[in-house]
Amino acid sequence: MSIPKAELHLHIEGTLEPELAFELATRNGVELPYADTDELRKAYRFEDLQSFLNLYYELMAVLRTERDFEDLANAYLARAAAQGVRHAEIFFDPQAHLARGVDMGTVVEGLWRALGDSEARHGVSTQLILCFLRDESAESALETLDAAKPYLDRIVGVGLDSAEVGHPPVKFREVYEAAAALGLRRVAHAGEEGPPSYIVEALDVLGVERIDHGLRCMESPELVARLVRDRIPLTLCPLSNVRLRTVDVLGDHPLPAMLDAGLLCTVNSDDPAYFGGYAGDNFDAVRLALGLGEERLRELARNSFVAAFLEHDEERRARYLSEVEAYEFG
Ligand code: ADE
Ligand code: ZN
Repeated sequence: MSIPKAELHLHIEGTLEPELAFELATRNGVELPYADTDELRKAYRFEDLQSFLNLYYELMAVLRTERDFEDLANAYLARAAAQGVRHAEIFFDPQAHLARGVDMGTVVEGLWRALGDSEARHGVSTQLILCFLRDESAESALETLDAAKPYLDRIVGVGLDSAEVGHPPVKFREVYEAAAALGLRRVAHAGEEGPPSYIVEALDVLGVERIDHGLRCMESPELVARLVRDRIPLTLCPLSNVRLRTVDVLGDHPLPAMLDAGLLCTVNSDDPAYFGGYAGDNFDAVRLALGLGEERLRELARNSFVAAFLEHDEERRARYLSEVEAYEFG
């Protein structure tokens, strides 16, 4: 069993494995433009973030009912548990579903059918983070937050994802202010493909507590110093960065330099069905490609629980942290 960890950067729609995609397509009478899972897997060659997003949104067509979202989440939780995930803060993209006529209730209630008994069934505690699509309008984000109001007891926070470049955080100032007023935690993808200034803007304008990816902070020593000083967690996704060509090969990933700089880094899977691995696979990959030793791996696992939104249950955080300290590498 892999070291106990929290997964803090995981898009539930990005856990849709080809086999489940075809099963749901058949169940719902949806035609997929691929003959079978082998042909679909051949489409998993991405040039950049946008080329991945095109397939990611296309395959969502198979998700239609509460049961579909429940099956998707259960499949993820079983895989995550097998890789040492003890706590998962799960992103979902409601605008991508609302646009297809699937309402907020179907998505949240469906996911909740799996999340509600995840601890008993999988040994994984969970939270939900609603993401706004940054390539949609600010008005659409506000409408989406409004549609989520009946479900806020099931949603811990808001995030910002989809195509980054050309859609700076400032576009979403108003909806983040509204989310903060509702008591929601705030995170945002920034510095994946976008410049370091987007990270600064996410912190200053949106008031985010964590940065998703944040890789490009390394281009600005001043920003690195700020992130270190303020202990801002970065939710890195190494296998995703290679597949989306943010880094050429895993051996070139800046994770070791980021840890050496004192940044509070965590390792996550982003869209594991598309990028070749779940949380434990990402840990294994960085260990092998970057030669990270046991203390570095323990630091990454510790960071994941330090950065988790567990303020309502500090006892649980302490329990998870003691599991990390007690873990013996095989
Ligand atoms: N949506 C799903 N995965 C994403 C990623 N890596 N970046 C931005 N938006 C996403
Ligand atoms: Zn992401």
